[in-house]
Amino acid sequence: MLSLCVSITTLFFFASASAQASPPTAKTLNGTYQGRYLPGWDQEVFLGLPYAQPPINQLRYRWPQSINTSFSDVRDASTYGYSCMQYHTKFNISEDCLNLNVIRPSLARDSTPEKDELLPVLIWIFGGGLYTGSTADPQYNLSGIVKVSQEIGQPIIAVSLNYRLGMWGFLQSPELLEEGSSNAGLLDQRMALRWVQDNIASFGGDPKRVVIWGESAGAQSIAYQLFSYDGRNDCLFRAAIMESGGPTGTQIQDLSYYTSPVENLTRTVGCWTASNQLACLRNLSSAALFAAQPSQVWNPIIDGDFLTGYPSQLIRKRKFNAIPLLTGTNTDEGTSFSISSPTPNTEPDLFNGLMFWRSYALSPPTIRKLLELYPNDPCHEPPYEITNCSVFPSKGLQWRRGAAIGGDLVMVSGRRKMCELYTQAKQPVFSYRFDTTLYGKTALQGVEHFDNTAFSFQNISGLLGPSPQYDADLRLARAIGESYVRFVNNLDPNPAQGGVGGNGSSIDALTLPYWPKYNIGNPVNMVLNASGPYVEPDTFRKEGIEFLNTFDGSLYNKSDFLDSDSSVDIGGKSDNGRNNDISGDSDIGGDTDIGGDTDIGGNNDNADIRRLKWS
Ligand SMILES: *[C@@H]1O[C@H](CO)[C@@H](O)[C@H](O)[C@H]1NC(C)=O
Ligand SMILES: *[C@@H]1O[C@H](CO)[C@@H](O)[C@H](O)[C@H]1NC(C)=O
Ligand SMILES: *[C@@H]1O[C@H](CO)[C@@H](O)[C@H](O)[C@H]1NC(C)=O
Ligand SMILES: *[C@@H]1O[C@H](CO)[C@@H](O)[C@H](O)[C@H]1NC(C)=O
Ligand SMILES: *[C@@H]1O[C@H](CO)[C@@H](O)[C@H](O)[C@H]1NC(C)=O
Ligand SMILES: *[C@@H]1O[C@H](CO)[C@@H](O)[C@H](O)[C@H]1NC(C)=O
Ligand SMILES: *[C@@H]1O[C@H](CO)[C@@H](O)[C@H](O)[C@H]1NC(C)=O
Ligand SMILES: *[C@@H]1O[C@H](CO)[C@@H](O)[C@H](O)[C@H]1NC(C)=O
Ligand SMILES: *[C@@H]1O[C@H](CO)[C@@H](O)[C@H](O)[C@H]1NC(C)=O
Ligand SMILES: *[C@@H]1O[C@H](CO)[C@@H](O)[C@H](O)[C@H]1NC(C)=O
Ligand SMILES: *[C@@H]1O[C@H](CO)[C@@H](O)[C@H](O)[C@H]1NC(C)=O
Repeated sequence: MLSLCVSITTLFFFASASAQASPPTAKTLNGTYQGRYLPGWDQEVFLGLPYAQPPINQLRYRWPQSINTSFSDVRDASTYGYSCMQYHTKFNISEDCLNLNVIRPSLARDSTPEKDELLPVLIWIFGGGLYTGSTADPQYNLSGIVKVSQEIGQPIIAVSLNYRLGMWGFLQSPELLEEGSSNAGLLDQRMALRWVQDNIASFGGDPKRVVIWGESAGAQSIAYQLFSYDGRNDCLFRAAIMESGGPTGTQIQDLSYYTSPVENLTRTVGCWTASNQLACLRNLSSAALFAAQPSQVWNPIIDGDFLTGYPSQLIRKRKFNAIPLLTGTNTDEGTSFSISSPTPNTEPDLFNGLMFWRSYALSPPTIRKLLELYPNDPCHEPPYEITNCSVFPSKGLQWRRGAAIGGDLVMVSGRRKMCELYTQAKQPVFSYRFDTTLYGKTALQGVEHFDNTAFSFQNISGLLGPSPQYDADLRLARAIGESYVRFVNNLDPNPAQGGVGGNGSSIDALTLPYWPKYNIGNPVNMVLNASGPYVEPDTFRKEGIEFLNTFDGSLYNKSDFLDSDSSVDIGGKSDNGRNNDISGDSDIGGDTDIGGDTDIGGNNDNADIRRLKWS
């Protein structure tokens, strides 16, 4: 789709240099906010800025409404706002959670010559299965990547946004569909992106140069935004960074899938006999609704408006927003998404597991074809670092085979599909495979889901391991940060030719080889390995992944895949990552134990990051 994103350029001047004692202010369309200077970072933050009316009372479950009031006092924006409702969290939660944060270099205090230039903007959308996560999580501290941008002389402004989660953002019922309120959490993201368009220039950001960035369900959210409104380009962003997530991953179910959980919830809270059940649900106190704690995992549905079809259908009709991409997956996504119930000792075990796995509803011919394409070959299956062909009986003799299938189904095939699709749509695409074992991870865990995030966020929370043994990891983190910053500035992760913009200048970063664009005839990934990054052909597991990405075959119904991706095993009984038994208790569709042991952002220690591993 040809699009012209024109916007009126507001020439922005940073407030003239002033004493660091005076806190920064910014004037939005609705009023003025006072942020905070971060000593030591040379940054200013504006935290907890509301971007929509509080979705409470009659607005509960509704699509977000833009703010229609203004204020004349100066409001405080020095601390993070409420996190959205979720279970098992240490954050301060509230239904009034539609807020975002702006983190910018303190340019006014620099000697930067282009003070009056608007800076490009990077917007973070966190993951967590669409049922957990918060911008206040220290793992998502944006000071690190903004600092990298300052240090390489390509400053950016970063934004992170909260959006409604779980039943607050994704309750799926016929009444809500009828009302036009389905998928509210994704519309929250959209409204935050709109707010950035309307207001970011007041903070020194350039609304025409916005890149959105997400991991896991955050990257999946980005995929939904790209497929939304039939791929309409609303000029909300010009490129995307998608880490371990895409159009596959979580199930898009029919509305009927939710009939019984909705009834259960409605009965639990005493609204079943109400003449207007939805009005009754909206009338509940926040605490009463929270107490219901439904075990259901709520995911997006096709609502006929925001999402008019499944990604596979929209791909066939070429209804997607084609923009430049930087996207990748981790080497051993499969250890986070293995098929482990029943314990996979034999091929029939795997077959039976796949019948129910993640509610994908794969058909028997499809499963047979998959098993044929992924033969039992523990020498070449996750965790790939284990090259001695061992099997691990406690996990099941065919556990590694199941991990190969699972990782490709949930993460890797979707990544390759997006690379191909967007390359064919004539967009620059840069693909990576993250391949560095996180400090403290076992060989059996390998390089699993979420492990790259500490690197993208520049080790702010100190998870990369002791020095000097892990210094290479820190240097890799910086190389990743630089690549992202350059992509945000130039839509290319490579250093500008002739050295403009530099390759790292003052900071000690691993030098990555030249990162070629994805090419259908010569597809490649940048392998982000701290011991030595290199470029590889993106042709591994070719036949299997091709099968997963084929939509119009004759032998089997390919709509099995992108048409119905799955409900997350939220790892109910995860053992805190020690045994890497993530999908071990994979509970088969429906009765997942939401957020079981997750301890998101808890103590921010190594155990936490190991716990936080789901899409
Ligand atoms: C603002 O919008 C809300 C709901 O969208 C509405 O109830 C309220 O009356 C509006 N207020 C003003 C001042 O327009
Ligand atoms: C408040 O800001 C939003 C955009 O963020 C804008 O659409 C709206 O018109 C503003 N309303 C008032 C009353 O200032
Ligand atoms: C929760 O709010 C309290 C007081 O408002 C604050 O002191 C505390 O730091 C907040 N906790 C988190 C995790 O944000
Ligand atoms: C990031 O963490 C540092 C150290 O804890 C803190 O000073 C800073 O305020 C944080 N930045 C943001 C944007 O939260
Ligand atoms: C809302 O709750 C109040 C009392 O809590 C009750 O009187 C009223 O009938 C309820 N309204 C609806 C629509 O359920
Ligand atoms: C109904 O919900 C409760 C929690 O509110 C849950 O324990 C139970 O398993 C659910 N039952 C069904 C049939 O979904
Ligand atoms: C193979 O490698 C794994 C992981 O390093 C190790 O636990 C196992 O003992 C090795 N097996 C053999 C037979 O060397
Ligand atoms: C990274 O590269 C090193 C050195 O080439 C290699 O030994 C290792 O297997 C690679 N992968 C990981 C996950 O470290
Ligand atoms: C990561 O950060 C922590 C805390 O800032 C620090 O102690 C540690 O040395 C860093 N890692 C490396 C490899 O430098
Ligand atoms: C940047 O590149 C130049 C030329 O390749 C090299 O000499 C220099 O050491 C590099 N700087 C860093 C920090 O990698
Ligand atoms: C594939 O599945 C879709 C959705 O279930 C169905 O509409 C279609 O008819 C099926 N195609 C074939 C060839 O079986």
